[in-house]
Amino acid sequence: MSRREEILAEMGLGPIWRLRRKGGVGAIEARSTFTEPGAAKGWIQLKQAVPACTACGLHKSRTRTVLGVGDEQAEWMLIGEAPGAEEDRLGEPFVGQAGKLLDNMLAAIDLKRSANVYIANVLKCRPPGNRNPEPEEVEKCSPHLRAQIELVAPKLILAMGRFAAQTLLSTDASIASLRGRLHSHAGVPLIVTYHPAYLLRNLPDKAKAWEDLVLARSTMASLR
Ligand code: URA
Repeated sequence: MSRREEILAEMGLGPIWRLRRKGGVGAIEARSTFTEPGAAKGWIQLKQAVPACTACGLHKSRTRTVLGVGDEQAEWMLIGEAPGAEEDRLGEPFVGQAGKLLDNMLAAIDLKRSANVYIANVLKCRPPGNRNPEPEEVEKCSPHLRAQIELVAPKLILAMGRFAAQTLLSTDASIASLRGRLHSHAGVPLIVTYHPAYLLRNLPDKAKAWEDLVLARSTMASLR
């Protein structure tokens, strides 16, 4: 058994993950196990469904929906909370101050948002005034995120901040208690770290975020 297979077995993951693509649409469909009926089944459908979505009240105040950015076949998938003002204006995630820090964090582990990285948020529309997402908004938006994760089929998810971590792991545990170990979401290995916007306000925790990135990098290396 390879080290990658050992890690996946320790996490209780197995066959679904061995089917992971790069091989094309057939492979993606073969591992399609958790998208609910009616949800988008391909990128074209998802890219039409999200801008047309009126499932929660956020569609009334949004300027643009923010689906995601990056390599649609990336091994790394980074998931944040929700678009802010700049993201709502431009239709791209993490383009404000938090985005600049995120780009620096990625550069620190030799990654960039355009290559082998895909970035998305739990919510595709901006909560007014950047308030926290409401549980109903998360629930109504979750089919889009599930479809997106399935389509990207990443090897590793980095959940950034409380909302991403709690949503993807179906828990109300704190970031502090979730950091530092490997989790899984729908068969995908997942690591939790702080949200870049939090790090902008809490500089000492950048050292902990660096530890998370090192863990993510070594986990990815062991999954190859
Ligand atoms: N914060 C997020 O969680 N996502 C963004 O896209 C921007 C800021």
